[in-house]
Amino acid sequence: MAGRVGLLLAILAVHLAEASAADAPAASPAPAAAGKDLPPLISHRPGDVRVLLLTDCAKYQDWQTIAGAYAWRESGQPGGFTRVANCDEKDRKNYPKAMLDYVDTHMAPMAAMNKELNDWYQAYNKPKAVSDWLEHNPHPKEKWILLIDADMLLRRPFLPEEFNLTKGWAMAAHYDYMKGVHNDLAMRHVPEMIPHNDTLAGPPGRRGDVVGAPYFMSMEDIRKVAPLWYDYTVKVRNDSLAYKDSGDTASQKGGRIWIAEMYGYTFGAAKAGIWHRWSEDFMLYPGYTPPFIPRNIHNGLHYTVGDWSFDKHWYFDFDVHKCPPWDLSVPKPKEGIFPPPPHPKTLKSKCAPHLCF
Ligand SMILES: *[C@@H]1O[C@H](CO)[C@@H](O)[C@H](O)[C@H]1NC(C)=O
Ligand SMILES: *[C@@H]1O[C@H](CO)[C@@H](O)[C@H](O)[C@H]1NC(C)=O
Ligand SMILES: *[C@@H]1O[C@H](CO)[C@@H](O)[C@H](O)[C@H]1NC(C)=O
Repeated sequence: MAGRVGLLLAILAVHLAEASAADAPAASPAPAAAGKDLPPLISHRPGDVRVLLLTDCAKYQDWQTIAGAYAWRESGQPGGFTRVANCDEKDRKNYPKAMLDYVDTHMAPMAAMNKELNDWYQAYNKPKAVSDWLEHNPHPKEKWILLIDADMLLRRPFLPEEFNLTKGWAMAAHYDYMKGVHNDLAMRHVPEMIPHNDTLAGPPGRRGDVVGAPYFMSMEDIRKVAPLWYDYTVKVRNDSLAYKDSGDTASQKGGRIWIAEMYGYTFGAAKAGIWHRWSEDFMLYPGYTPPFIPRNIHNGLHYTVGDWSFDKHWYFDFDVHKCPPWDLSVPKPKEGIFPPPPHPKTLKSKCAPHLCF
């Protein structure tokens, strides 16, 4: 309980810092900041968009889940919010009930292991999570779906009418490094796709779109994409040449690529006849100076505000369930609250270090 309050404060602090970078009004204070009355569980408000937050059930994702659910609530996003957690039997049995009470959760099987390839890859879970949720919710109330990752925080709502979202036309974020949609990688996996020559979500000649999460599309479309997303993820994981065509700078010669799942998605969507338009406000990494308030903050990279910095990877063992007293004497606490960032008023510069020349 109290851990949650601490975390909310920390999230609020992050939001404050980020709002200051945008020179915009700060986020409204967390209702929980008083420390006593937590807001009741809200996982639904009227609206036509179902948000699925894709996670597993490791400790590392518990604090991210709470942050994600909190951000969803604060963003005013219409519709429903569900966390889908891929968990094995053992983890499911021991899973803290408080989390399930706090965030609407769908438990899906752990699918990180592909036996055919003898390949343990966490991101296999993502398409499987979506398929499993759809299987158990064959008639969702909402017409649209928004898929976000565990490290994403909604800031502003995603509204289908604002984007003219239609069946067959999805929206997603722009990930520049996805050059494998127009080189040999695409030729090996989807040579039959007629190249697209517009520039709506990538360069002319591409056989899939240059996109990544969040994915925003019709429920009907995701139903078609999810199984193909998995199949192409397996194919790209099994492609020993992918390392040189994928744009993934971390990949090693002959090794399986970490972003296989992103190609799995984009090739799967193309095969399903679903193409995208970009919206540059779909996601922004903290640390970048936002030209506007992004709809979603992607907490994926190390970033710095003044003398303070944050990296989600420092908090693999952070226990969001721990009640006080907390040990906050260490630079990267494992419980309680994250070190709060400096207040916007104390910052000398309002731009990110790498953007101030
Ligand atoms: C949606 O359609 C309206 C009207 O045709 C247009 O003005 C607007 O630019 C479109 N928005 C997007 C994001 O395509
Ligand atoms: C894009 O251009 C190529 C080469 O001119 C052509 O073969 C292809 O059919 C075009 N794609 C579409 C969707 O029209
Ligand atoms: C993986 O690649 C090998 C070699 O190209 C192929 O024989 C095998 O069928 C592939 N497996 C899967 C699951 O795609």
